[in-house]
Amino acid sequence: MSEIILPEVELNIYSKKNPVEVTVVENYVVTKESSPNYVRHITFDISGTDLAGRVRVGQSIGILPPGIGDGGREHKLRLYSISSPSAGERGERHLISTTVKRTIEELGDKIYLGVASNYLADLKPGEKVNMTGPSGRRFLLPENAQDFNFIFFATGTGIAPFRGMIRELFDNGYNKECFLVFGCSYRTDLLYSDFFEEMHERNPNFNYITCISREERRTDGSKRYVQTALDDHKDILAPVLSRKNTLIYICGMKGMEAGIYYELLKQGFYDYLELKQDLPADVSEIGLNQMKEFVKPGMRTFEEVY
Ligand SMILES: Cc1cc2nc3c(=O)[nH]c(=O)nc-3n(C[C@H](O)[C@H](O)[C@H](O)COP(=O)(O)OP(=O)(O)OC[C@H]3O[C@@H](n4cnc5c(N)ncnc54)[C@H](O)[C@@H]3O)c2cc1C
Ligand SMILES: NC(=O)c1ccc[n+]([C@@H]2O[C@H](COP(=O)([O-])OP(=O)(O)OC[C@H]3O[C@@H](n4cnc5c(N)ncnc54)[C@H](OP(=O)(O)O)[C@@H]3O)[C@@H](O)[C@H]2O)c1
Repeated sequence: MSEIILPEVELNIYSKKNPVEVTVVENYVVTKESSPNYVRHITFDISGTDLAGRVRVGQSIGILPPGIGDGGREHKLRLYSISSPSAGERGERHLISTTVKRTIEELGDKIYLGVASNYLADLKPGEKVNMTGPSGRRFLLPENAQDFNFIFFATGTGIAPFRGMIRELFDNGYNKECFLVFGCSYRTDLLYSDFFEEMHERNPNFNYITCISREERRTDGSKRYVQTALDDHKDILAPVLSRKNTLIYICGMKGMEAGIYYELLKQGFYDYLELKQDLPADVSEIGLNQMKEFVKPGMRTFEEVY
């Protein structure tokens, strides 16, 4: 296998104490009209700042929402993944994007709106935002990405980095095998699906697998999740997993990684994981909530879950 050469990245050019003001240039909904969820694609103009040309896809930026929270303290910083390629949104170096879901919680007779996501979702083009970052030094495409096959697993807004990574790969004449496995609850929550379908039509080496958990059932009646795709689509995924030059990326909901580890172990793909202790002869004896006691991501697995 080729050595995995990760790019050198600059971290926290702007910090919480020294944020930079950037301008919103577009902010539009990417969930389908009939979805009860609102996920937005938001692009910022970073020209004239030290971020221009120095933010890599896979990294995150920090957002400082204005105002004071319940405890009388300034709102804390929230992180959002970059969803534009490193070359910038539409190839323009001074534009970077992210993908934000409005969060809302109803408890008893009260409704709580997430502070930063709703602040971002309400912003209009021309409005200014205090930004920090970039952060993240490992969840990146290798410099020599053209040497590897990729399997990207995303749930919900965990799709953000993969939109940018897939653009970056194919804008640079990528010719190995690339799979995107995307999970969401309902078909109306598929994010950037027009883009991924078009990428698949134009590039036979790009495959797009969706797992619609609350609409589709597996033959045993269980939900379809990104990890079950490893079994349901074994015919196309196992041959790629068995190649030495394949890398796995996992992004989205905390907990999704345990299901993926389990499927990898079940199918004997130990190379993607590092063992922390001996495994039982039957891996199904390991509960998903115990998985991290037995394994952690290996060199070929990149993970950002929250
Ligand atoms: C590395 C990284 C990358 C990330 N990338 C993205 C991304 O690309 N896109 C994205 O959308 N998110 C991303 N996130 C998550 C993001 O940082 C925020 O955590 C998320 O947007 C919620 O922040 P918020 O300020 O809107 O909600 P918060 O105000 O922090 O609230 C969190 C949740 O609690 C609920 N809540 C608030 N107050 C109460 C209360 N009193 N009682 C009960 N419930 C309450 C809110 O409704 C909300 O659902 C990322 C996180 C990390 C760590
Ligand atoms: N870089 C990062 O770390 C990063 C970037 C972006 C987003 N995020 C995080 O990603 C999460 C995505 O949230 P969302 O609201 O956009 O997602 P969502 O729409 O609520 O859910 C996405 C899908 O994940 C499924 N799911 C739930 N538990 C799972 C599990 N254990 N294994 C596999 N699939 C599972 C859901 O199934 P059901 O229908 O059964 O619920 C649903 O199909 C958030 O927690 C966000 O903070 C992290």
